[in-house]
Amino acid sequence: MRLWGGRFDAEPNRLVQEFTQSIDFDRRLFRQDILGSIVHCRMLARQGIIDADEATTIEGGLRQVAEDIAEGRVVFDHALEDIHTHVESRLRELIGPAAGKLHTARSRNDQVALDLRLFLREVVLDTVDGLASLQETLQERAATWHDVVAPGYTHLQRAQPVLLAHHLLAYQEMFGRDADRFRDAYARLNVLPLGAGALAGLPYPIDRTFLAEQLGFDGISRNSMDAVGDRDFVVEYLAAASLTMAHLSRLAEEIVLWTTSEFGYLSLADSYTTGSSIMPQKKNPDVAELVRGKVGRVYGHLMHLLVTLKGLPLAYNRDLQEDKEALFDAVDTLLPSLALTAGMLRSAEVDAERLAAAAVSGFSLATDVADYLVARGVPFREAHAIVGRVVQRCLATGHTLADLPLDEYRAVSPVFDETVHQIDVWTSINARDVPGGTAPGRVRGELAAACLATADLRSWVSDRRRKLPSQDFLATR
Ligand code: ARG
Repeated sequence: MRLWGGRFDAEPNRLVQEFTQSIDFDRRLFRQDILGSIVHCRMLARQGIIDADEATTIEGGLRQVAEDIAEGRVVFDHALEDIHTHVESRLRELIGPAAGKLHTARSRNDQVALDLRLFLREVVLDTVDGLASLQETLQERAATWHDVVAPGYTHLQRAQPVLLAHHLLAYQEMFGRDADRFRDAYARLNVLPLGAGALAGLPYPIDRTFLAEQLGFDGISRNSMDAVGDRDFVVEYLAAASLTMAHLSRLAEEIVLWTTSEFGYLSLADSYTTGSSIMPQKKNPDVAELVRGKVGRVYGHLMHLLVTLKGLPLAYNRDLQEDKEALFDAVDTLLPSLALTAGMLRSAEVDAERLAAAAVSGFSLATDVADYLVARGVPFREAHAIVGRVVQRCLATGHTLADLPLDEYRAVSPVFDETVHQIDVWTSINARDVPGGTAPGRVRGELAAACLATADLRSWVSDRRRKLPSQDFLATR
């Protein structure tokens, strides 16, 4: 049962069939497709476009189709092109010719736009949830490791000491902005396209407001050609997903580095690492590497969608079918990456002593020594030069800033006195007591704010989930 055989004499060429089919991937949308069909069918009956008995039969049949597909009783066939055709054809097997009335006042063009928006809004909610879980993990780790100091880096050179919690909470901020991008995209995504028909609207007294209410949309599209012709909401998801993956990859890279014997700051649980087939001693951070390695797929899908849309004339074009595999793969990459990164962090242990030693090595307190001179009236630029010479002396004599004798300091500048030896990792960290700084009080404040921000994300998600139709067959993807 093809949906469009009427004006054709010949069957499509086999290769054409293979080339144009989308059932191999759009079968994933069957729940969304059937939900949309049920609500469409109810609307048709309410408006007197089909009669109530037929509508009841169709709805019962559609529920059965959902079950049949979920339980693998429907054989997918390339000759039946896509999920929309499969659903209708199964419906016809179940209820007979009445099935033919379901597609009144609808086109596959507005149908597929609807399915994709229904799918993606669930995904966006899951994504924001995943980000919130990851943030909670960061917060839990920040609290557990509250007095662990770490070297802060620039250029991957030890730069200034920070609290490890401060380092972790930097990711809280990144993932928070990511979540905001998804939330922002949701507002434009959660708009009903159904009722656009093929492109021009429909010559039936349909009730789009009813459709929107039943399907949990916050609004209806204002232009039928736009409704079937654009996929900018997919681009927005992929763009937000790309940045999230970028952030995940930075964290992943730090996990890879920090678990090496060169760094030795962090170790992961066995369950989040893998071994080598030849080197028995190996414990590799493959999960972190794969999170890092999968970023390119998502960037690629973003570019793919942007290119697909470029220069497309209005309204629907079959090119748009290319949106789905890209989107699905991005979703299947991002959601597990979020969950696994959180799991990895929860399983991690730190070597606090090694971190503390690294935090003060490599002249990490040099800026503090300069600030010490500034506090005694030396202009910063001059202080910088003086400390540069102090560092030279340390290098020449094999000392650190902490054990360089006072007379060596004073040989460079008479402003130094014995209090220079009081500078240590904690005076450095405590001194950075500005909003956004690494002083413990500031970090505690930021941690508390982080918990509130994440709670806000959670309630944003649950508020929206409550407004979605509660069809049980939509519960899983
Ligand atoms: N499989 C198509 C897609 O994904 C569904 C819409 C088909 N519409 C059409 N006029 N051929 O875009």
